[in-house]
Amino acid sequence: MSILELQNVEKIYGEKANRVNALRDINLLVEEGEFAAIVGTSGSGKSTLLNLIGGLDSPTKGKIFVKNREIGSLSRKELTIFRRRNIGFVFQNYSLMPVLNVYDNVALPVTFDRGRHINRKYIEELLQELGIWDKRRKYPSELSGGQQQRVAIARALVNKPHVLLCDEPTGNLDSATTIEVMGLLKASCRKYGQTILMVTHNEAIAQTCDRVIHIEDGRIVTGKRIYPVKGGDGAC
Ligand SMILES: Nc1ncnc2c1ncn2[C@@H]1O[C@H](COP(=O)(O)OP(=O)(O)OP(=O)(O)O)[C@@H](O)[C@H]1O
Ligand SMILES: [Mg+2]
Repeated sequence: MSILELQNVEKIYGEKANRVNALRDINLLVEEGEFAAIVGTSGSGKSTLLNLIGGLDSPTKGKIFVKNREIGSLSRKELTIFRRRNIGFVFQNYSLMPVLNVYDNVALPVTFDRGRHINRKYIEELLQELGIWDKRRKYPSELSGGQQQRVAIARALVNKPHVLLCDEPTGNLDSATTIEVMGLLKASCRKYGQTILMVTHNEAIAQTCDRVIHIEDGRIVTGKRIYPVKGGDGAC
C-alpha cells in the first residue's frame, strides 16, 4: 500500500518578478516501509517537497495523500493533530528548545498532545539506543552537533510516526557519526515499519537507501527503486 501519494503537485513562491516555481507537476508514490533518499542541487526543491508532505506548507496546485488522507482537506486543528501523531521531522538545524534539557526536548511532542501520556519507558529506550541516555539532563548548548542531532532524531521518533521526514539529518556530522545515525534510522525503519524520506547531499549515503529520488529544477528526474521493499529484513 502506498503511504504517500502526490498528484500533480506544484509550488509557486512569490509573485511577478519574485515568482519561483519551486515544484512542478510532481507525481510520486512511496510505499509503506520504504527508505527513500532525495537528492538534487541546492535550490532544486527538496526542502519544499518535505515541507509540503509534512503539511508545514500547502501546494499551489495538486493533492497530497498521507495514509490515504488528503492533507489539504484537513482543518488546521485536524492537520496539527494528524501531523503530530503520524509524521516526524528531523531538520538540519536540529531545532531543539534551548531552555529544555535533553529528556524534556524528546518528550515535547507528547507533552503537547493532551490526548496522550508520556511513555517514559519508550523514551528511555530511544535515548539508550541513541547513546544519549547519560546526557538526558544536559541542555542542547552542552552537547556536540552529533549529540544534538541524535536528540532531534529521538524527538522525531517519540510518537512512533509512520512517516519520518529528514532534511539533511547528517549534514553537519562527521563520517563516523553519519554512519551511526544512518544505522539508527534504518533500524527504526525496520523495527517500526516506518517510511523515511531523507534529503541528502551525500551520494554514497543515498545509494544505501531503497530508492533515490532525484529532483532538478522542481521536477523529479529519476526515482527508481534500487530493490523492491515489502517488510522483512533488509527492507531498508
Ligand atoms: N519561503 C520561500 N519564499 C520564496 N522562495 C522560496 C521559499 N522557500 C524556498 N524558496 C525557493 O524555492 C526554491 C526551492 O527551494 P528549496 O529550499 O526547496 O531548495 P532545496 O533543494 O532544499 O535547496 P538546499 O539544498 O539549498 O537546501 C529555491 O529557488 C528557493 O529560493
Ligand atoms: Mg533544503
